[in-house]
Amino acid sequence: RKPVTITTLRSMYRKGEPIAMLTAHDFPSALVADAAGMDVVLVGDSLAMVSLGMNDTNAVTLDDMVLHCRSVTRAVRSAFVVGDLPMGSYEVTPQQAVESAIRLVKQAHIQAVKLEGGVDLAPAIKAVTSAGIPVVAHIGLTPQRQNALGGFRAQGKSVAGALKLLEDAYAVQEAGAFMVVLEAIPAEIAAIITKKLRIPTIGIGAGHGCSGQVLVQVDMTGNFAPGRHLPKFVKKFANVWAEAKQGIDQYRAEVKSRQYPAKEHTYAIDGEHVAEFQR
Ligand code: KIV
Ligand code: NA
Repeated sequence: RKPVTITTLRSMYRKGEPIAMLTAHDFPSALVADAAGMDVVLVGDSLAMVSLGMNDTNAVTLDDMVLHCRSVTRAVRSAFVVGDLPMGSYEVTPQQAVESAIRLVKQAHIQAVKLEGGVDLAPAIKAVTSAGIPVVAHIGLTPQRQNALGGFRAQGKSVAGALKLLEDAYAVQEAGAFMVVLEAIPAEIAAIITKKLRIPTIGIGAGHGCSGQVLVQVDMTGNFAPGRHLPKFVKKFANVWAEAKQGIDQYRAEVKSRQYPAKEHTYAIDGEHVAEFQR
């Protein structure tokens, strides 16, 4: 497969071909996403929850993102790799946003950054774009702003809310974002916004009217312990946890019963050497 570039993504958008995007947070999760033909791999700061066991994304640092982005770009051969700018690494000044974005490109070799926010973050988007680093914007439910939003709640469900979303969408497009993630908003609103914009929209909980879709890999592969709450928009396409659990259960049983390791898992040695060693 030829490497996906920003030009490839623009051409998919022009042709109306949906863009398939998935998160990865380390080497193996990136390998499988790339092998499955993802157009875009996102190193999302959701790795806070799915990889680091945190309750939300707020404590993730730029150092954390550099480490995870590096492991992902080592694996990916074809997909376009986007790295999230974590909370606190881009909101202070546009200059701070540029410095953080440059670090992710130089030290982790990602091809674009994603940052959360609309109208208020337009100056940061403009500055990063001007520095030659493509920006994916992220509006609607912006998890880094959960305290301001009153939790992880769908956005744009009122007329005023929908108008605010449209204003944010226009602002990020005008500022130079080449793509925008729409998270947890009514499908009709996402479809209208998608029609009005001239850059691709990537939906997560935003219906099928977007230019593409993104999901968190650990969620959609079912690689999580039973009982975990999943957002309404997640579809579980596989059952990786159950598969891994079954294998580990069996391993434990075979260790306890000495069934494992069997002869074929064991190194051979000449019997005479053993005899001599024993003497
Ligand atoms: O962090 C993340 O995984 C994300 C996507 C869900 C859009 O931002
Ligand atoms: Na994120």
